[in-house]
Amino acid sequence: MSEERTFIAVKPDGVQRGIIGEVIKRFEAKGFKLVAMKMKHASKDLLNEHYIDLKEKPFFPTLIKYMSSGPVVAMVWEGKGAVKTGRVMLGETNPADSLPGTIRGDLCIDIGMNIIHGSDSVESANKEIALWFQDDELASYTSCAFDWLY
Ligand code: RTP
Ligand code: MG
Repeated sequence: MSEERTFIAVKPDGVQRGIIGEVIKRFEAKGFKLVAMKMKHASKDLLNEHYIDLKEKPFFPTLIKYMSSGPVVAMVWEGKGAVKTGRVMLGETNPADSLPGTIRGDLCIDIGMNIIHGSDSVESANKEIALWFQDDELASYTSCAFDWLY
């Protein structure tokens, strides 16, 4: 139950704007465990696969151009309810609808520059983790905080 994993990525605008540390800080402070992290300038092939469910949307070409415009910081965070809680921490897709206290609510303005991605279900998290990371890039360790969190 405490081993649920979510895939979080700081998007190219978040990297350029210096928001990587703020995102890591919030997930760490919450109590989630960092399992993997890397900076990657994603190929269009990888991004087409990552956002495959959106390929018929009118904004899809813009989205792929945005996501391939610079490096992203891809991460895997683990903990109880990591997927759902991660989405709550991100806020709504449109920053204008995101409450203060959420990452998008606090740190960005435009839906086309919404600084962060988070998996929307456990199933998509597992797919996204397998797409972005090799098995041997996922660290296996017990956090010393575990018994103080659960
Ligand atoms: P993400 O997958 O990036 O975490 O975002 P999300 O679940 O909140 O939203 P989703 O529907 O999956 O859309 C993916 C990303 O596409 C861009 N978008 N633009 N112009 C538009 O109407 C529009 N709608 C979505 C956003 O960058 C969104 O995060
Ligand atoms: Mg999504």
